[in-house]
Amino acid sequence: MMTLFEMAKEYQTKAYAPYSNFRVGAAVLADDGKMYGGCNIETASFGGTICAERVAMTKAISQGATKMKQIAVIGDADYTYPCGICRQFMTEFSDDLIVHIIGPDDVRSYHLDELLPFAFTSEEMKHEL
Ligand code: THU
Repeated sequence: MMTLFEMAKEYQTKAYAPYSNFRVGAAVLADDGKMYGGCNIETASFGGTICAERVAMTKAISQGATKMKQIAVIGDADYTYPCGICRQFMTEFSDDLIVHIIGPDDVRSYHLDELLPFAFTSEEMKHEL
């Protein structure tokens, strides 16, 4: 069976990145026990771009998964760290997510809390009116 890291690498080859020429692949392991892959997808209107991480997560969620357990990311940088929007998205759909950044020599693994400390979540909106 394909590993999460292999799936991220496989999806990097699917990237549609004609504007940045920066290819990213991601794969998530969701709470349904399944793995979902994604790649970055750009449009000529640059703001219409979506990152590999969010493609993988939206695939999982749209198939019925609710929480992500692990995510692996590989991009054209030596170590491609998720952007701020993706970190916020990960926060919404996980409780204790492990983020694996696949590099040339090793894999660096983090808890999402380390990558997005003091995250704004739905908990913060439970204030007294
Ligand atoms: N990108 C990702 O897909 N994930 C990241 O973690 C960093 C950035 C994409 C967005 C855009 O298509 C290209 O990389 C350059 O920013």
